Amino acid sequence: MTDARTRGRFITVEGIEGVGKSTHIRRLAALLEHAGHAVDVTREPGGTPTAEAIRELLIEHGEEPMPEAAELLLVFASRALHVANRIRPALDSGVWVISDRFVDASRAYQGGGRGLPDDAIESLAEFALDGVKPDLTLLLDAPPEVGLARAGRRGAKDRFESEALEFFARVRQRYLDLAAAEPERFIVIDASGTLDVVEKAVESAGQHILKHFK
Ligand code: TMP
Repeated sequence: MTDARTRGRFITVEGIEGVGKSTHIRRLAALLEHAGHAVDVTREPGGTPTAEAIRELLIEHGEEPMPEAAELLLVFASRALHVANRIRPALDSGVWVISDRFVDASRAYQGGGRGLPDDAIESLAEFALDGVKPDLTLLLDAPPEVGLARAGRRGAKDRFESEALEFFARVRQRYLDLAAAEPERFIVIDASGTLDVVEKAVESAGQHILKHFK
């Protein structure tokens, strides 16, 4: 076990499609690296070869229907691989990890969006993640109309992007509820503004992270 001072910090970035997570994660990583930290940027579902293979199963339109229970279990199978083979080893060696989505995405999409029971999600988190939890979570928040319009410009829609607006309204609401329930872990950023404005907000969140986790 690495002691608390040398262990890396685990930061997750969440939000519905089209809120600009990838762009802002790159900026945040650059800021943390500039301050002298080694940073590993990763994503879910995915982040290891097998977890990326599971990602394809999850987001592509497959040949058979995807039961909601199978979706939840696949998401957690990929996350168990990600934690064991990438996130935990990085944190233990002092590397900071920024993940584009983590367990809150299951709470929001499978719990809020699909309506699956919270206790099933929390049991899987407890069972599969070896106690790994984010130190801090940035929630990029925007109304689904705004996010989906942006995401729609990226071409063919995957299995999640094909969901109705109401699905994303439920996902967004669950994210906001999670943030309200754990204000010390979440920073909520209004991502509906121009890129410049959101970038400034992400930068000040980055400064806060550096100060807080020195
Ligand atoms: P994205 O990374 O391109 O946003 O696509 C991943 C999709 O997977 C996104 O629509 C959200 C979904 N997802 C879940 O439903 N549950 C999860 O736990 C995670 C990590 C992602």
